[in-house]
Amino acid sequence: MQTAATVATKTRILPAGPAAIADTARTLRAGGLVAFPTETVYGLGADASSGEAVARLYAAKGRPAFNPLIAHVADPATARKLATFNDDAARLAAAFWPGPLTLVLPRATGCPVSELATAGLDSIALRVPAHPVSLDILRAFGGPVVAPSANLSGHVSPTSAHHVAADLQGCIDLIVDGGPSPVGVESTIVACLGEPSLLRPGGLSRADIEAVLGKRLAQAAETNDDAPLAPGMLESHYAPRSRVRLNVASVGKDEALLAFGVPLSGAAVTLNLSADGSLVEAAANLFAHLRSLDSMSHSGIAVMPIPNEGLGEAINDRLIRAAAPRPHNPNQRS
Ligand code: TXA
Ligand code: MG
Repeated sequence: MQTAATVATKTRILPAGPAAIADTARTLRAGGLVAFPTETVYGLGADASSGEAVARLYAAKGRPAFNPLIAHVADPATARKLATFNDDAARLAAAFWPGPLTLVLPRATGCPVSELATAGLDSIALRVPAHPVSLDILRAFGGPVVAPSANLSGHVSPTSAHHVAADLQGCIDLIVDGGPSPVGVESTIVACLGEPSLLRPGGLSRADIEAVLGKRLAQAAETNDDAPLAPGMLESHYAPRSRVRLNVASVGKDEALLAFGVPLSGAAVTLNLSADGSLVEAAANLFAHLRSLDSMSHSGIAVMPIPNEGLGEAINDRLIRAAAPRPHNPNQRS
């Protein structure tokens, strides 16, 4: 497990509102780190053009520097100054920004985002978030803000201010509390470097994207160096300490059950992603339920099958990572 930042800071937690927005913009300008709500998950923001602020951010998360960050901007016009948009990218930006979509594009010459933030790549990941608090912060700050999910590297992403505090209290300057993240899984990442390809399933479904493009998205694994995988997806991420079993048809009496639809009976404890079988509700509950179950005492987490359509693709992607064996993780329960 990664350890948190080396520099201890007093972390303030403020409710979203004009005072918090002004404080956030001031803190970002001073090179500080601020966690704030987006519609997908909470982000940990830093001034994208300050190498020093970005270095502080990597340290606070314990994130390897080869893993690049997403630059968040207030509107598509600002995004266009940072990268080159081909026709597919322009169509996707027009259809889905602001929203839970990140585009990986060729970095524009003169792009002010720190090379450290893009890990020295020729490409840059851009997103215009839809959450009103994110947009207020981006407008008040007036420049690009890099923001990975506001968790320690390798942990489950945070969907509440409380989750952020559990990982990063004392390591960052400010947390803006805007309530639970409504989408609940991270943005979908599409590379538009050649033919568009899906680097990470997320809060916008593949079907919605393909409908706008009028063609299929290539799978990152099928592509070559023109569309590399999102480097952050190569590691074992979303790692609860508990052992996780997927697609279960029965559950042990000492196991915790993560249910979907009508729950199986007999578990030690049950949390339901969505009793109605709604994938939207399930995505919104996923990370909070995983964190809750992981904090309880049981022999492991058993997960019922989730249909692999719509947001189900992102949910299953995160669950498969959560279930991946981590033989070198001393914190994982057997
Ligand atoms: O919903 C989200 O996207 C959240 C909120 C806060 O916006 N952010 C987020 O950031 O999930 P992070 O850093 O946890 O995940 C970003 C992913 C990583 O897997 C990273 O490797 C990938 O994006 N990425 C960033 N720049 C890239 C690039 N130029 N090429 C390929 N992948 C890139
Ligand atoms: Mg992350």
